[in-house]
Amino acid sequence: MNKVILQRSTISVPSNREKMLIKSKGLKADFIMYDLEDSVSLEEKDKARRMLVDFLSSEDLNDKVISYRINDIYSPFAYRDVIDIVENVGSKIQSIVIPKVESKKHIIWIDILLTQIEKSIGLERKIEIEPSIETAKGVLNIKEIIDASDRIRSLVFGIADYTVSLGMFFKGISGHGEEEEFYPGHRFHYPMSAIAVAAKSKGVLAIDAPYGNFKDLEGLKKSCLISKYLGFDGKWAIHPSQIEIINEVYSPDEEDIKRCTKIVNTYEESIKTGKGSASIDGRMIDGATYRLAKSILDKANKIKG
Ligand code: COA
Ligand code: MG
Repeated sequence: MNKVILQRSTISVPSNREKMLIKSKGLKADFIMYDLEDSVSLEEKDKARRMLVDFLSSEDLNDKVISYRINDIYSPFAYRDVIDIVENVGSKIQSIVIPKVESKKHIIWIDILLTQIEKSIGLERKIEIEPSIETAKGVLNIKEIIDASDRIRSLVFGIADYTVSLGMFFKGISGHGEEEEFYPGHRFHYPMSAIAVAAKSKGVLAIDAPYGNFKDLEGLKKSCLISKYLGFDGKWAIHPSQIEIINEVYSPDEEDIKRCTKIVNTYEESIKTGKGSASIDGRMIDGATYRLAKSILDKANKIKG
């Protein structure tokens, strides 16, 4: 059974926005992801990196789990994004999001570079990585990507760049869940399932793309449910107002806990009498249902702490 790691909400914070950096200290997201990529203009890349180093060096963020996103690895910024941040504040970094990962070569690049810096600064644990799958090539090569390093903490779905890569038409700008009546089905089902399957084949997390319409909390909820039912563990937020809903949707609720507890108790009683199957309210349960219910209770217990 997969280890339970809690990363329901990941708030993306543009690293060049002082006010947002400060605000991030008080946010109740499971993960804070400081962005150096698409929410920072080209002119402010160096400034954003410096601001992030200053912020992380000077603030006490001990109760936060911190990641950050580097720029495209073929840009002139990416190597500095890794070196400057990890050399200066590596001890505070849990993971690094790598955009547009398309092959194992990209993972090997970051893996070796991190190994060098960790040795140089004497960091004993390994910094994790979160490859973002957001191109056609990334989806095609997902198996070699997930197999390329034991640093991988999650696979992240990047919906906007995926849409660009496929040349998919769009109207809604929020991600999945908005303006999708044009296609009979869920048009992101294939890449999302590929991501979930690859992630779970290694026991790592699958993290969904953000929902851009931060005023539409109902749409956000729907979008969370789509990925939750596909096996995703959490979703990025781009605005503080989204964190609570994301945490809520990716957590088992009271009804889930009651249902799963009943399954576990009934099954455990049944197995004592040598029977591997039983019924609850006219529905069959067996060893697989038991494992399913246990996995949800494990998650609920992890959330309770
Ligand atoms: N992280 C931290 N704080 C944030 C935030 C974020 N992602 N988004 C908004 N805030 C803060 C604002 O600074 C403001 O703070 P205040 O109450 O101290 O004034 C408060 O939350 C309310 O923000 P609001 O005025 O509703 O939004 P905005 O117009 O300032 O910003 C966006 C809207 C969409 C531009 C902004 O949320 C944003 O840039 N989000 C992140 C985008 C991103 O990271 N993209 C890349 C990943 S996909
Ligand atoms: Mg992207």
